[in-house]
Amino acid sequence: MTTGRPIRVGLIGSGFMGRSHAIAIRTAAAVFGLERPLALELLADVDAASASRAGLALGITRTTGDWHALIADPAVDLVDITTPNTLHEPMASAAIRAGKPVYCEKPLAPDSATAFRLAEAAEAAAVPTFVGFNYLKNPLTRLAREIVESGEIGEVWGFRGIHAEDYMTDPAAPWTWRLDPAGGAGAVADLGSHIISLARFVVGDIEAISADLSTKIGERATADGTRRPVQVDDEARALVRFANGATGTLEACWVATGRKMYLAFELTGSKGSICLDMQRMNELKLFIRGGKAGREGYVEIPAGPAHPDYAPFCPAPGHQLGFNEIKAIEVKAIAEALDGGPVFAPDFREAAMVQATVDAILLSARERRWVEVGELVPQTG
Ligand SMILES: NC(=O)c1ccc[n+]([C@@H]2O[C@H](COP(=O)([O-])OP(=O)(O)OC[C@H]3O[C@@H](n4cnc5c(N)ncnc54)[C@H](O)[C@@H]3O)[C@@H](O)[C@H]2O)c1
Repeated sequence: MTTGRPIRVGLIGSGFMGRSHAIAIRTAAAVFGLERPLALELLADVDAASASRAGLALGITRTTGDWHALIADPAVDLVDITTPNTLHEPMASAAIRAGKPVYCEKPLAPDSATAFRLAEAAEAAAVPTFVGFNYLKNPLTRLAREIVESGEIGEVWGFRGIHAEDYMTDPAAPWTWRLDPAGGAGAVADLGSHIISLARFVVGDIEAISADLSTKIGERATADGTRRPVQVDDEARALVRFANGATGTLEACWVATGRKMYLAFELTGSKGSICLDMQRMNELKLFIRGGKAGREGYVEIPAGPAHPDYAPFCPAPGHQLGFNEIKAIEVKAIAEALDGGPVFAPDFREAAMVQATVDAILLSARERRWVEVGELVPQTG
């Protein structure tokens, strides 16, 4: 049973992520029995008519075409940003200035310098921040980390991580905000930020990188019929060294013909290994050395109520959580953090570290050398 006043959300944007956040906010309130759930209070979109249309579909009665008004609205407790990347910084900065907690989609900012400035501003104003790296909230991602921390797979030696999709493979796919260099890098920021956040979550800090980037389709058609050059990467590949000695590879690609949602990693340890693929996010494969000869192989573990945050959705294992449900787990963690519960991660500081890793990949590819991620992290104190 829910009690107390809800945390009133001002949602900015109603596209793919705006709808997902709206679903997740309702789901988290229905499923988790929170003391203070999040509740949809006000929606802003690019203009008043779009906002009102989307508000009708999403069941949000108060709408506005002006995001500044949303942030200033006294009935908004939490600012939720689901707009294209170039708008994250001005919106998050305004929310921090207004002293309001911010929930922002990834990537946090176009570059790491901006991301660290946002983290510092939020910390100076004591404003809690939350970033939408939702795959960290998959119960089986958390199981993978638990297995690593418990030592079950021994010393972690290798991490192979990839996020590959094919939504930009068609040369006729139009120029969109994802290709705007003002919003940051291409596939490496859009998709690569997810696999970097997962690598950091299950293995730890990435210390050094050697990377290569390429753009496969050099120009795209715009809505007005003209053509624009593509100035961001379509794919990125990197060799990485982790601070704990593990080594590995990271790949990001949005022209991976045939791949729809290949966000996956394979962790190799001295005693075992783990594979997790988010297109099959309810199945973790675990191998532990020492099986009988001729009987060794991966065990497939289905997500179930024994794993964190699964049981409130369903009492039975193997019944499958989906993308919007892991988003609801993210929302639940935000609600608890704002109500005095465990501190939420990833916050703006962690998102800035992810961004520093993206920038290290860009710098390494540009200068054709190994780059220490620390080169991109501002020194404090
Ligand atoms: N966490 C994830 O898994 C995930 C998945 C997809 C996208 N994203 C991120 O979410 C963000 C949005 O992506 P999307 O796919 O939802 O984009 P989208 O284009 O589908 O939606 C963007 C929304 O922002 C609105 N918008 C644009 N300018 C605005 C303005 N000035 N004021 C108010 N609203 C404005 C648009 O009208 C639209 O409703 C991006 O940062 C993207 O990287 C995250």
